[in-house]
Amino acid sequence: MDGAVLHTSLCDLLEIEHPIFLAGMASRGNATPPALVAAVSNAGGLGVMGASGLSLEEIRRRIQEIRSLTAKPFGVDLLLPTSLTQAEETRSAVRQQLAREHPKHVEFVRDLMRQFDLPDIRVEEETLLSPKHIQAQVEVVLDERVPVFAAGLGDPAWVVPLAREQGMKVIGLAGSVRNAQRHVKAGVDIVVAQGTEAGGHTGKIANFPLIPQVVDAVKPVPVVAAGGIADGRGVAAALALGALGAWVGTAFLIAEECVLPDPQKEQILGGSSEEFVPSRTYSGKTARNYRNVIIEAWERSDLEPLPMPLQGVLMEDFTAAAREAGRYDLVNNPSGQIGGMVNERKPAARIMDELIGGAVEVLQGLQHSALRTHVETKDG
Ligand SMILES: Cc1cc2nc3c(=O)[nH]c(=O)nc-3n(C[C@H](O)[C@H](O)[C@H](O)COP(=O)(O)O)c2cc1C
Repeated sequence: MDGAVLHTSLCDLLEIEHPIFLAGMASRGNATPPALVAAVSNAGGLGVMGASGLSLEEIRRRIQEIRSLTAKPFGVDLLLPTSLTQAEETRSAVRQQLAREHPKHVEFVRDLMRQFDLPDIRVEEETLLSPKHIQAQVEVVLDERVPVFAAGLGDPAWVVPLAREQGMKVIGLAGSVRNAQRHVKAGVDIVVAQGTEAGGHTGKIANFPLIPQVVDAVKPVPVVAAGGIADGRGVAAALALGALGAWVGTAFLIAEECVLPDPQKEQILGGSSEEFVPSRTYSGKTARNYRNVIIEAWERSDLEPLPMPLQGVLMEDFTAAAREAGRYDLVNNPSGQIGGMVNERKPAARIMDELIGGAVEVLQGLQHSALRTHVETKDG
């Protein structure tokens, strides 16, 4: 990368070379497989594995695989939603609850399955994202002493002291100043401020207003910018807004090491920014996805998507059937507005080179043009 270096205090904190993160992205284990996590860490950034949907055994196995591929620091991201209200702990029990309390929603999804002639199959895995399961997932990450723990949704207050004991650093993701402050109160080491343009679960505030406000509100806690970053210009803009690093998701989904199904990579490569839309269709919480006819059908219906995890259980059976039928046009594909700019498959190391080298180039160019403007103003 021509010796270009992008170094902020965050690099010292995490013992990494460049302040570029592979965002933890769950997506059934496909978005951030060990090879991609390790490739980003080996390139001097911090690879983060999204582990939310994975079983305890699979989380441990993948952590060990990452360790076999890199000696550099890496992270694991889990969702810790605060709003899991269900008493039910198993998928079958939630299905029964759906049939009892939300027959119209169940019928709506059955209609969709008939309309697209999908096979009548169901997700077999019984374990759900319940408070008990999340606690067990966190215990695996603590036990493995993963260098960095990232909390997606929710409040990591209970994890922070346990992670400290293990010598780990904790990151909290926030889409608003209020949530960023809650993370800082919980004691996190780093806040990731995620703008609405981001892929996956997302808030309502765009990065230009969000990042400087979060930076001011949580000072001196370092802030990393997430959402809409896919090249050096985005990284440089994040730094200009006061962030000390970039948390990059969508741009890595087309990496050669990413094992997202090919039709989903094609949607991102071919999509324009307006096709990546927020919707509660697939999980019950607002997430930005590549637009499809299922999101449109829910929008047209008079039904409000149900809260997490009810909507997820309802739709996971649908998407399992769609996958089985090879209908990836009906499956959720979380990805952000920057998908409009992501149009070429590359290995992760090249994506890293372009993010870092590009940012250095932009920052050096800005320095020169600032100097020129100053001289011109003086002379004029
Ligand atoms: C496919 C996908 C899955 C995601 N899953 C998670 C997750 O499990 N945990 C989390 O904290 N964030 C998740 N996110 C959000 C990312 O961590 C990150 O904030 C976002 O991708 C940044 O925006 P960008 O996609 O524009 O780069 C996901 C995003 C995508 C695109």
